[in-house]
Amino acid sequence: MNAQELRSMYVEFFKSHDHAQIQGKSLIPENDPTVLFTTAGMHPLVPYLLGEPHPAGERLVNYQKCIRTGDIESVGDPSHLTFFEMLGNWSLGDYFKEGAIRMSFEFLTSPKWLGIPPEKLGVTVFEGDETVPRDDESARVWKLLGIPESRIKYLGREDNWWGPAGTTGPCGPDSEMFYDFGKEPCGPDCGPGCSCGKWLEIWNDVFMQYNKKADGTYEPLARTCVDTGMGIERTVTILNGKKSVYDTEIFAPIIAAVEAATKGSSVSGYTYGSDAEKDKSVRIICDHVRSSTFVLGDPRAVSPSNVGAGYVLRRLIRRAVRHGRKLGIEDRLVLSSIAEVVVDIFKGPYPELSENRAKIIAELDTEEQKFLETLKHGEREFEKLLPNLLKDPKKIMSGRLAFKLYDTYGFPIELTEELASEQGLTVNRAEFDEAFKKHQELSRAGGDQVFKGGLADHSEATTKYHTATHLLQQALRTVLGDHAAQKGSNITAERMRFDFSHGAPMTAEELRKVEAMVNEQIKRDLPVTVRVMSLEEAKASGAMALFGEKYESQVKVYAIGDFSMEVCGGPHVEHTGTMGTFKIQKEQSSSSGVRRIRAVLE
Ligand code: ALA
Repeated sequence: MNAQELRSMYVEFFKSHDHAQIQGKSLIPENDPTVLFTTAGMHPLVPYLLGEPHPAGERLVNYQKCIRTGDIESVGDPSHLTFFEMLGNWSLGDYFKEGAIRMSFEFLTSPKWLGIPPEKLGVTVFEGDETVPRDDESARVWKLLGIPESRIKYLGREDNWWGPAGTTGPCGPDSEMFYDFGKEPCGPDCGPGCSCGKWLEIWNDVFMQYNKKADGTYEPLARTCVDTGMGIERTVTILNGKKSVYDTEIFAPIIAAVEAATKGSSVSGYTYGSDAEKDKSVRIICDHVRSSTFVLGDPRAVSPSNVGAGYVLRRLIRRAVRHGRKLGIEDRLVLSSIAEVVVDIFKGPYPELSENRAKIIAELDTEEQKFLETLKHGEREFEKLLPNLLKDPKKIMSGRLAFKLYDTYGFPIELTEELASEQGLTVNRAEFDEAFKKHQELSRAGGDQVFKGGLADHSEATTKYHTATHLLQQALRTVLGDHAAQKGSNITAERMRFDFSHGAPMTAEELRKVEAMVNEQIKRDLPVTVRVMSLEEAKASGAMALFGEKYESQVKVYAIGDFSMEVCGGPHVEHTGTMGTFKIQKEQSSSSGVRRIRAVLE
């Protein structure tokens, strides 16, 4: 069964159970500032899960394009993807656990539908905790349908609780369905949910019972709902007896396009399957180009940039280019030829891709060209450094110099190492990592300049603004809610800019409150103190940290009196009393779901 057949069959099955088919929505959420991308089919349905009546009724079905970037570093292994398609069915106050599980079981096992032998399935259910009891009801239904106790695993919140990727919204316990590849169990505890490779999760039935509020508390939903999600790529994998999503017909033509792109006038090219390391690069290119194509082909598309979703897109494209070089692709634009194939595969279910074909191609070509120039520039600079480098008797290139290439020209460290090794040199990686770490801490303050800069200037004026960003961040969270998280900042000696997630323009009243709150902390002349602690300790103590940021195991935590606590590299003023008067000059949109404040200290 291919992806198209699975999509149609799923929709047909749920229609036969009185569900109305609804359109999947944009990959870039319209009204949800808590996430950069739609991460599940339930995202666009949040208002209805919270109680709004849906125009199509109480039983819904669809397929939805999704992106999750949390695992971007794992892409390249057999199962991780950034872009994937999710099949979903919903009950808005209609059926609950028994109805949902019965339909899931029927679709999975009935010979009329997927026909998976029931003995190949295992499930997990919520084991319960102090807030919500063990989900005996789900377990009862699974047993009734013939899943033996030995294939039912009770797990905690980490595994069997679902809420949206953001911090607030509808949530509840879930029951997940796994396919058993038949491998020997890895130990006595091995069961559905184990990550040893024996079990693959294919479907999740979420039983929405609560709304998680910005203050972290749960309120029961007025009516309980069901939200389910079945991964198309994974399900096609098991239905075709494959071990990897990349071995399915979904990826075969994309892999062929990557192979074709490796062939040049003078090189015979790479064939998938001949080298494990190179295969990984092929898979990364396939995944990243597929994701980029969907982002660029979306009705709410963003362009590559240094903030938010645009930054993720830039990272995907640049990572694909770098892996292309590992396959011998140099100085040629190839990504758009791979994207063409992606458009052709998916234009049926996603007609927006063919409508935006020209734009996808143009944007990819432009970004790839830009990055190739960055690379060329970096290589030229390396050549210039070379005569001096070769004079070093130990043949070591300092990490400081390698960092300069990165910081000034955006030249990736892996490429510096590659060039160095061609010349018999090694790069002092520890020193580079040290400089890089410092830079990352600094660019926490200069967030939207992700590639360069940060708080390069440690003057008194910029230091004051730096402390002001912490005060502003806390004031925004207090006034608007915890979703108002920092997305970037930019500081000069004259002013500060601060980007944060929030779905609507701030009202005059909110602006006044935030400004007053910051000024109150300045007036209180709070001491600014710093402590070094482990990242776990920092998190446990409630310090704010940038979501998605990679931190070292030991971090600096800056506290401003009792008002704010943030993981940060500094520097900061010692007492807030020296900062002057904080004044918000402008509040405007920065990008989708992100607002920007411009402020001065007078
Ligand atoms: N929203 C649920 C998930 O993504 C179904 O797993």
